[in-house]
Amino acid sequence: MNIKNIISVSLVLLLLSGVGCTSNTNSGVLTDDLSNSKIAPYNAFHSGSIMLDNNGRHINAHGAGFLYDNGRYYMFGEHKLGGKLGNRALVGVHCYSSDDLYNWRDEGVVLKMNDNPESPLFIGTIIERPKVVFNKKTGKYVLWAHLEKRKGPTAKSSKLDVILDEKPDYNTAGVIVATADKITGPYNFVRSMRINAGKYPINCNLENLKKAIAKYKDSDYSKINGWTIKNGKYTTDDLFAKDFKNGQMSRDMTIFVDDNQIAYLITASEGNATLHIHELTDDYTNTTGKFTRNFMLGYHEAPAIFKAKGKYYMFSSHCTGWAPNPGRISVADSMLGEWKELGNPCRGEGQKATKFTQEATAETTFRSQSTYVIKVQGKKDAFIYVGDRWNPTDAIDGRYIFLPVEWEGDMPIIKWYDKWDLSFFDKKINRTFYLSKSLRE
Ligand code: GAL
Repeated sequence: MNIKNIISVSLVLLLLSGVGCTSNTNSGVLTDDLSNSKIAPYNAFHSGSIMLDNNGRHINAHGAGFLYDNGRYYMFGEHKLGGKLGNRALVGVHCYSSDDLYNWRDEGVVLKMNDNPESPLFIGTIIERPKVVFNKKTGKYVLWAHLEKRKGPTAKSSKLDVILDEKPDYNTAGVIVATADKITGPYNFVRSMRINAGKYPINCNLENLKKAIAKYKDSDYSKINGWTIKNGKYTTDDLFAKDFKNGQMSRDMTIFVDDNQIAYLITASEGNATLHIHELTDDYTNTTGKFTRNFMLGYHEAPAIFKAKGKYYMFSSHCTGWAPNPGRISVADSMLGEWKELGNPCRGEGQKATKFTQEATAETTFRSQSTYVIKVQGKKDAFIYVGDRWNPTDAIDGRYIFLPVEWEGDMPIIKWYDKWDLSFFDKKINRTFYLSKSLRE
């Protein structure tokens, strides 16, 4: 058996089981840096360590979103496989549930990939950063995720070794929407799309956008990107015009439901250069056409929104693929903006290197990239930053970073804790410890 066949056979076995274990776990016996701790049940967060579910398997829900529903927290994320190509969606979106945020029960794969080459859920496409929200009007659970379809001559093959040879293509830059009657699915496909074709943002000069749209033929658009804009050849109006006809791009994304039940898609658009914020329809399965362009040429990825003290806050990252970079925190008075960036929210020395992990400093968001902010139930203004510590060479071994959101004046910040628990939020001293920036200067 050659190496490709060995890989294919292992993948098939993993697919059939619907789950996968990392090499770091063995029948639930931890061989990670928690090996000397009592871990079952967990009573604290151990960021960056293997996080076992009720079956003793490392949780497989990367780029996750969370939803609190009927007294339980639910976690939805990308089911990855082992090895470099484990980032392709070969299984689907995996769900876990918990009543304390430390211990998670496997609820299975709730959005499944299939073997129909015409379906956007065809095995081997890319499905990233799934987020589930509940719609009070329709009573349905609505899942949104970033979708990248397979392209090229082999795109209709479901053979795993063929998929493994394909180069991932991130030019679909679309979303997939699915709904379910039960939170744990099954989620059924509703639509996949580029966003708001033919629609104008509400926060830009329309005349300039119209001029830019009138100026080009489709074939000219390939020259417009962040670099050609920086060189002064094109403008950000041109960047918007490029996708006006076929719909705006949507890559790293999240969904946020406001207190008044209006929901928004927050997404990296225009080749990731600009963050779009789109209002969703009443049933949350589409966009209304009302949207804003934010942080032009700011290149924000990995948006994660929360509302605190009457303001909207957003953790995000720079664009460096799977490699971590300095985190970002921004604030706005309303979801559609105007958003203002406050800087890097990470403080302190971070995680020291051990034989299991490299050091993780404030300059790399503690080797993580934001994915969600959990609002802790029953505690006032208690929020948890959740990030992914990706492992591009062995995707299934990606780790989860859970850190408490603290405050420096009005700026949310995060510090590294090897181990912490929710009683953290009851200790006032920890939350007001930092002087605001203006006081320190
Ligand atoms: C990251 C992004 C991930 C994934 C990755 C692919 O920047 O946040 O969700 O798309 O790039 O390289």
